[in-house]
Amino acid sequence: MRCEVVITKSGAPAMRDIASGEVMHPGTGPEVEPKELYVIPSRLLERLSDPRAGGSSLVLLDVGLGAASNAIAAWRVSESLPRTARRLEIVSFDNDLSALALALEPAHAASFGLTSTESDAYAAASALLRAGRHETERTVWRLSRGDFPERIAAEPAASADVVYWDFYSAKTHPHLWSVSTLGALRRVCRTGATLHTYSTATSFRSALLLAGFAVGTGGRTGLRAETTIAAVDVADLAEPLGERWLQRLARSTVSFPAEVGPAPEARAEALARVRACAQFARSTP
Ligand SMILES: C[S@@+](CC[C@H](N)C(=O)[O-])C[C@H]1O[C@@H](n2cnc3c(N)ncnc32)[C@H](O)[C@@H]1O
Repeated sequence: MRCEVVITKSGAPAMRDIASGEVMHPGTGPEVEPKELYVIPSRLLERLSDPRAGGSSLVLLDVGLGAASNAIAAWRVSESLPRTARRLEIVSFDNDLSALALALEPAHAASFGLTSTESDAYAAASALLRAGRHETERTVWRLSRGDFPERIAAEPAASADVVYWDFYSAKTHPHLWSVSTLGALRRVCRTGATLHTYSTATSFRSALLLAGFAVGTGGRTGLRAETTIAAVDVADLAEPLGERWLQRLARSTVSFPAEVGPAPEARAEALARVRACAQFARSTP
C-alpha cells in the first residue's frame, strides 16, 4: 500500500503518500482546494464557454493525477455545460495509480467526491483506472502513465491550453521541478496557455522563467497566502512578477533550481537570463 487516507487539520479527508509523508490537498481538502486553486483561477468555465474558440477542444494537462480530485473538478465543469460549449480533453499524468484505486474504494469514495449517487464521475474515474480512457459527448479523459519527463515528451507540440501542476514537493521529487522538465512542458503549451500551482518557491518560479514561461502571482486559497500562475504570454497574467521579485531573487541563497549549481558564475548567468525575460523589460530598476 503506497497511500493512506488521513484527516487534515481543517477536518477534511486527504490522501497521504506513506513513503514521503506528503499529503494531497493538505489545506482545505479534495473537495474545496481543486476548485479554489485550479478550476476557478484557470477560468475553465469561461474558456470552455468562449464562442471565439471556434469549436476546438480545450486541452488540460492534469499533472499528477493522484486521487483525481483536480481532474474530477474540471470534468464536472465540462459535463455541466451545454453541447454547444467547447469539448474538454483532460490528459492525466501519473506513474502510480494507487491513490486513485484507494479513493474509489467504497469506504473512501464519498470523501473524494466519487459517490455512487454521482455515478457519472465514479464511472469516469473507474474507467480511467481500468482502461486508461473515458469519453462522453462533452469530455475526453485519458491517462498518460509513467515518469512525467518521458510522458510529456510524447505529447504534440503546442497542443495544451491549461496545466494543473500538482506534484509532490521539489524536496522529494527534484527532477520533476527542473528547468529541463519544465522546458519539455513549455514545448507542449500553446499560445494562451496558463499553468496553475500551489508552489510559490523562488527556485520554482525562476525555473519556470528559465524554461520560457512568463510567471505571476496567483491569489490566496485556503491556508495559502499566495499561489503561482504562469503563462506562455505575459499578457495572460493579472499580476506578473516584477522588479521587487527580481531584487529578492538576486538576494536569495536558494533562488535557482538545483541544475544551476552553486558556482557564483553559474548563478550570475542564470540571474542575467531571468532578468532578460520579456516580462521584466518594463520594470524600473
Ligand atoms: C500531489 S499528488 C497529485 C494530487 C492530484 N492532483 C489530486 O487532485 O488528487 C502527486 C502525484 O504525482 C505522482 N508522481 C510522483 N512522481 C511522478 C513521476 N515521476 N511521474 C509522474 N507522476 C508522478 C504521484 O504518484 C502522485 O499521485
